[in-house]
Amino acid sequence: MHSQLSARQLGLQRGALRLIAPLDLELSLGEFVTIIGPNGAGKSTLLRLLTGFLSPTQGTCLLAGKAYDQWDRRQLADRRAVMRQQNPLSFPMMAEEVIQLALSHHAPIAQRTILDQVVDLVGCHALRGRDYATLSGGEQQQIQLARVLAQLWKGGEPQGWLFLDEPTSALDLYHQQHSLRLLHRLTRGGKLMVCTILHDVNLAATWSDRLLVMGSGMLLADGPVAQVLTEAHLKQWYQADLRVIYPEHSAHPAVLLNK
Ligand SMILES: Nc1ncnc2c1ncn2[C@@H]1O[C@H](COP(=O)(O)OP(=O)(O)O)[C@@H](O)[C@H]1O
Ligand SMILES: [Mg+2]
Repeated sequence: MHSQLSARQLGLQRGALRLIAPLDLELSLGEFVTIIGPNGAGKSTLLRLLTGFLSPTQGTCLLAGKAYDQWDRRQLADRRAVMRQQNPLSFPMMAEEVIQLALSHHAPIAQRTILDQVVDLVGCHALRGRDYATLSGGEQQQIQLARVLAQLWKGGEPQGWLFLDEPTSALDLYHQQHSLRLLHRLTRGGKLMVCTILHDVNLAATWSDRLLVMGSGMLLADGPVAQVLTEAHLKQWYQADLRVIYPEHSAHPAVLLNK
């Protein structure tokens, strides 16, 4: 019970517009779950509902048995972190200060220790002293990843519920792999859940325990990668001309766009 997020008939309506059709969903600590789906499918809106940033107009979303409005704000911040798509800053700040924002409630000495540990994990030493506003989109994403890991830091590792909206969209191949490998590894201890939106279905296939597929505000599929990522499904959901192959020695499918 307390290691789960449970959505029951969770839905969102804006006037006559149904943004998210009522859906049931369970997310557990230890899982790496990816939300995929075409542009405008409702992925970011669903993430806002699941993280408590939007209140549902239907149904409930319970994090460890408690609705978001029942959570103490400080306790919630310790347990649930969100990395948004855009993270602009309107004032000058060093990259490491952006990470430290997540640590303000820790004693100064603990702040330094955690900061050093997350910077090590993410591998963003070279960016620490830079002005955040001058970093490239991909560099900003590395700092934001470090920030959300710092926010959930407890006893030498991140613990709790981590939600990310396209965290790799501006990353190069090395950093896509480094970030997703890291997030995947961190979930294996059973104390961290990762629920991320990814556009790249091949990245999703490589690291996810489970895929959630959104389309037109509806949850179209929820299951393991091999079951969800079939050629017929993908053609139908994305209306793209593609094929799905199983490369030799690979445990998961690969999606190729036809020329
Ligand atoms: N407050 C709102 N009022 C009206 N339409 C909205 C609102 N929020 C989101 N939408 C619409 O809902 C759809 C899904 O948006 P979004 O969740 O951002 O999609 P995705 O992240 O899958 O690309 C889009 O068509 C978007 O324009
Ligand atoms: Mg989105």
